[in-house]
Amino acid sequence: RTYDIAVIPGDGIGKEVMPEGVRALEAAASRFGFSVRQQWHDFASCDYYARHGTMMPEDWKQRLGRPSALFFGAVGWPDTVPDHVSLWGSLLQFRREYDQYVNLRPVRLMEGVPCPLAGRKPGDIDFWVVRENTEGEYSSVGGRMFPGTAREIVLQETVMTRHGVDRILRFAFDLASKRPRKLLTSATKSNGIAITMPYWDERVEAISAEYPDVSHNKFHIDILTANFVLKPQIFDVVVGSNLFGDILSDLGPACAGTIGIAPSGNINPEGDHPSLFEPVHGSAPDIAGQNVANPIGQVWSAAMMLDHLGEADAAAAIMSAIETVLKEPGLRTRDLGGRASTTDCGKAIADAIRTA
Ligand code: NAI
Ligand code: MG
Repeated sequence: RTYDIAVIPGDGIGKEVMPEGVRALEAAASRFGFSVRQQWHDFASCDYYARHGTMMPEDWKQRLGRPSALFFGAVGWPDTVPDHVSLWGSLLQFRREYDQYVNLRPVRLMEGVPCPLAGRKPGDIDFWVVRENTEGEYSSVGGRMFPGTAREIVLQETVMTRHGVDRILRFAFDLASKRPRKLLTSATKSNGIAITMPYWDERVEAISAEYPDVSHNKFHIDILTANFVLKPQIFDVVVGSNLFGDILSDLGPACAGTIGIAPSGNINPEGDHPSLFEPVHGSAPDIAGQNVANPIGQVWSAAMMLDHLGEADAAAAIMSAIETVLKEPGLRTRDLGGRASTTDCGKAIADAIRTA
């Protein structure tokens, strides 16, 4: 087995954590007998913007070719390029052009990671957040009338299509069906948003008929966010529209500790287009260039990527290597109260993958 991986480090600490993500990939490949062909790209970065006046070349799709997946670091350097320019010119192009309609994030409390929720121990928090990534509240349907006057009207529509809603719900039910608890929780607000959200609820009921072994429930988004903090143990897989999923997919990982370890996938499940895996964090200009960033978010993203590519054993080995390293105070980075450098931590994870 050979996988072609487009490696795009981006900006800031993306350039520091990416080599550690790749080190883990290579360790897993040699241990589990597959190979990884890497194609590194310097675009989708603010450096590229400084040289070319654009975040990506016109022909970026041709340059990427047909990779098995995209492995992404972080993009953004607000001192030189405004964030909406860097993000819209890069990541959002991939998500859109490659129809990566699932945004997937695990929420798992690990030993060695301080939990901001009082009294929680590893095992108490272990669920997935599934966000719809292409439609819903983030539409461009709307406009502004009478700008600057007292009669000003601003309007933006939520767009839900049966195709779009059903496919994200099927992905979420499918994921739940593969978990021991088999419980899907849907984020709604059908008491206040009285047209689109009742439709979402209706489709949850309709699709649930295809998954008789999965139980499901729903919460309004307001109490759902409260429950992420108060009762995180009740969740298994949580699915939300674009806006609700956006909120939950930041809140969830925050409830399970540092942003430096959280990974994410932007997934096209059918494989019509490549999927993209990246840490949740950004380019962290405040600590960039010091070799102190936590590489675990990038490494965990490598595990999600391998799982997506069908290398479940390799993914599991990376996860157990992360757990091993987190248990060792001397191998923790500064954000976890340790003194290990990015490279120390990354090398320790790669060693643990080889010997696990
Ligand atoms: P950020 O995630 O880069 O940093 C937030 C805080 O967390 C900072 O104090 C940083 O030092 C810390 N942090 C982040 N990752 C860490 C790691 N691996 N290890 C240790 N500490 C870590 O978010 P911020 O500061 O809001 O954004 C900085 C830039 O990143 C902006 O240009 C923003 O647009 C971009 N960004 C890009 C994302 C992406 O590429 N997906 C996601 C979020 C932000
Ligand atoms: Mg967000």
